[in-house]
Amino acid sequence: MADDCFIAIGSEDDIIDCSRIACNSEIGIKYEFTQEAISKAILVSIAQSGMLIVARENGNAETKKSDASRIIGFAWVEPKGAFAQAPYLKLIAVDEQRRSSGIGSMLLQEFEERTRNIGRAWFLLVSDFNEKAISFYERHGYEKAGVLLSFARDGIDEIIMYKRHE
Ligand SMILES: CC(C)(COP(=O)(O)OP(=O)(O)OC[C@H]1O[C@@H](n2cnc3c(N)ncnc32)[C@H](O)[C@@H]1OP(=O)(O)O)[C@@H](O)C(=O)NCCC(=O)NCCS
Repeated sequence: MADDCFIAIGSEDDIIDCSRIACNSEIGIKYEFTQEAISKAILVSIAQSGMLIVARENGNAETKKSDASRIIGFAWVEPKGAFAQAPYLKLIAVDEQRRSSGIGSMLLQEFEERTRNIGRAWFLLVSDFNEKAISFYERHGYEKAGVLLSFARDGIDEIIMYKRHE
């Protein structure tokens, strides 16, 4: 269960842990992410308009143990990354050991809460082979809005998913 974890805004110091989780995930392996490249991209993003949301274990916001606690998942967000007017979830990943206990859902919910007043829908891209992530997003109300053929890599299509809100 995710009772031992809490969600917070991440800082520069957290980037290396987030990029490690991303690189160890299926998409990280398939796309040959490197920690250096992902770290640099997140660093540049959060220095400008981006936001890093992290899930931490072994502590909670009240006990202020956050500095010592381990990062077990993250969501990297561009608040106006979709068409320069709507929130875009660039990447979400949870440590493989901690999946299927609600941490991804907590991160997705935080992304939505923190960007609810921007635009009228939340957007993301998901690779066609990533069936687990597609069902995760669908369970959270996201719908397929289109397909970008061989968008990032030849032979891998990216599915545009979005969820409207008031
Ligand atoms: C997609 C991803 C972030 C989901 O994270 P997660 O922490 O496993 O997500 P949750 O635990 O909230 O939900 C996952 C599943 O666990 C189950 N689950 C959720 N809470 C649960 C609980 N308390 N107890 C048991 N099972 C639970 C749900 O049935 C859910 O099923 P679904 O995938 O069909 O929706 C994670 O699989 C991941 O890191 N994948 C690799 C990176 C990736 O592909 N990211 C997406 C890029 S577009």
